[in-house]
Amino acid sequence: MTLRSDHAGSTVTSGHADSTPPVRASESDRSPTADAPSPSERFAASQMSTYGPLPILPDIATGSRLVDTSGTSYIDLTGGIAVNLLGHCHPALVGALTEQGNRLWHLSNVFTNEPALQLAERLTANTFADRVFFSNSGAEANEAALKLARRHAWNRWVATQPTDEPDPSDFTKYGIVSLELSFHGRTFFTVSTGGNSTYRTGFGPTPAGIGHVPPNDIDALTNAVGPDTAAVILEPIVAEGGIITLDPNFLVAARSLCDTHDALLIFDEVQTGLHRTGPLYAYMTAGQNGASVRPDIITSAKGLGGGFPIGATLASARVAESFERGTHGSTFGGNPLACSVANAVLDTVSDPALQAAAAERSDQLRTGLETIGNKTGLFEEVRGRGMLLGAALAKAHRGRAKEFQLAALEHGVLALLAGPDVTRLTPALNLTEDEAAEGLDGLAKAAAELAGKTTSQ
Ligand SMILES: Cc1ncc(COP(=O)(O)O)c(C=O)c1O
Repeated sequence: MTLRSDHAGSTVTSGHADSTPPVRASESDRSPTADAPSPSERFAASQMSTYGPLPILPDIATGSRLVDTSGTSYIDLTGGIAVNLLGHCHPALVGALTEQGNRLWHLSNVFTNEPALQLAERLTANTFADRVFFSNSGAEANEAALKLARRHAWNRWVATQPTDEPDPSDFTKYGIVSLELSFHGRTFFTVSTGGNSTYRTGFGPTPAGIGHVPPNDIDALTNAVGPDTAAVILEPIVAEGGIITLDPNFLVAARSLCDTHDALLIFDEVQTGLHRTGPLYAYMTAGQNGASVRPDIITSAKGLGGGFPIGATLASARVAESFERGTHGSTFGGNPLACSVANAVLDTVSDPALQAAAAERSDQLRTGLETIGNKTGLFEEVRGRGMLLGAALAKAHRGRAKEFQLAALEHGVLALLAGPDVTRLTPALNLTEDEAAEGLDGLAKAAAELAGKTTSQ
């Protein structure tokens, strides 16, 4: 594939005011000659083929502007899949990492450390939660949440048994209810819980007691949740599954069913957290008329580290006490490097001006995508909230989201999919107006190409 490079060498602006523009790779760093293996070929020859990376080799980036090894510049509307909350190489994050890296490196959980203490105190002060368990990814945060929910049910059951050593086979309250189309990570428990069965096919028997219901189907949820349910787990916006915003009535019903059956409500906020959809966490305004829907556990990752790996499982004290010493753990969870960066993320995203600008960019992108849809007929609906947006392909174009991603790349824009029928944008919250406009321009050209029409946008 040959990439258009007429925007190569264009002035590269930064995604945040006080950073320097990315400098392209030196000649010797770039992909050398035409007959040298491509990045995709090198990947296939040296890494397991779980991914099919796009045919460019990113080299350097600042904010939402990325340059590949051939010198071609792109607007990044992927944000590393909802991770780079503040774009690439934000000075506050790089500064925090550098400072911490020069002070105290890795410790393990034989010790605690000041950045982790601060981060936990800030997360609990600003959410429903009283306790945090730190890990390194979204899957691990969800794995911990699901284990915690089952352990909580177990502890409560054990406390009611007449003997000190009850028969574990009598314990039945381990049910997990999740959504079809949901995604919670790739550990065995989380692929078993996620709604996409292809991700768990071929790995042998999955953990027992997990059921799935369609998003927003209150009757199905009511039938699925019962006395043997330990937890219901939901993404407030089903992201990978197609950017499906859960109805406030559905979330309120989930809360009420959990209360009725003494089950826990877990919100997977790995993608929606850290102001990506407006509030710090989506649960805070996910109910009717923007009211909060109280969870028992939420999980956070991706944007929490702004690009540095971290995961967090947040719970009320009542629930958290079921993770007694030794019941769960992680070598790297709560390490000072990740926690320092996450503290810098919180410092930066708590700025109301940044949040207001992100809301404006969201409107700009949504309107732009709707205009593209109207002009080309490629998209039939734009959905999602804040900087988690999906453009659903019209019936005639279903299945072409990958093709659209490649066309967008040709026009200098990095975009994502949410399944085969939805184009997904999860840009940095500090995307500038000009960057958003430039991104939309590239998307419009790609859409016109795909739809077989031309458009002036
Ligand atoms: C909602 C949700 N939960 C969990 C995960 C898994 O996160 P990670 O890839 O960091 O394990 C993802 C990743 O895309 C996600 O979108």
